[in-house]
Amino acid sequence: MSVIRMENVTKKYENTLIFRDIYFRVSKGERIGLIGRNGAGKSTVFKLIMGKEEPTAGKVELDPNVKISYFSQFSELSGSLSVQQELELCFEEVPRIEQELNQIGEQLGQVSDDVQMNALLERQAELFEQMEHLDGWNVSVEINTVLTKLGFDERSRHQPVEELSGGWRNRAALAKVLIEAPDVVLLDEPTNFLDMEGIVWLE
Ligand SMILES: Nc1ncnc2c1ncn2[C@@H]1O[C@H](COP(=O)(O)OP(=O)(O)OP(=O)(O)O)[C@@H](O)[C@H]1O
Ligand SMILES: [Mg+2]
Repeated sequence: MSVIRMENVTKKYENTLIFRDIYFRVSKGERIGLIGRNGAGKSTVFKLIMGKEEPTAGKVELDPNVKISYFSQFSELSGSLSVQQELELCFEEVPRIEQELNQIGEQLGQVSDDVQMNALLERQAELFEQMEHLDGWNVSVEINTVLTKLGFDERSRHQPVEELSGGWRNRAALAKVLIEAPDVVLLDEPTNFLDMEGIVWLE
């Protein structure tokens, strides 16, 4: 099953034809590089996929269960939170689950009643499963890896995003896309602000 399908898609801006009758599909697990000269219409393809532009003719179809994220050289995070806090927000449930697991751990040492004990163990198993699903045990390691590989030092990862330069706000947006781990990531010239090490890591 393909997650993105474009069939006979034509795009014109006013009377200028950008492309005609393009057809492609993206299937699960594929990695596709879109290459073309400046102005060929690469970013326009992304805009059609994201629904920011309508095709002049043809069909753009997306699997509704698939979460798509988009990143470009113009993407920027903003606001008073630091990039570290922004990334932690993506895993909001993790501290809550950890806290409840701790409580259950304490209660398990105190109860003697079998029924209560079983209820606690059942809830504990449920929470463990949720943590596995979220990969919650690795959150802080993952956040640290993403930020380090993108070049954030101790200071810049804890500064309010709005105080960072445009290039760093752009990297912060990339960090967020990567940590959210959507099903499909559309990257439009993602390496403009990255150094060699960052590019190699992103690949
Ligand atoms: N909103 C718009 N209105 C009119 N023309 C547009 C609009 N957006 C893009 N274009 C034109 O459509 C063509 C394709 O633009 P697009 O940004 O998709 O190209 P691209 O392949 O991403 O180029 P680049 O490599 O420079 O990023 C260009 O000629 C551009 O000027
Ligand atoms: Mg472009």
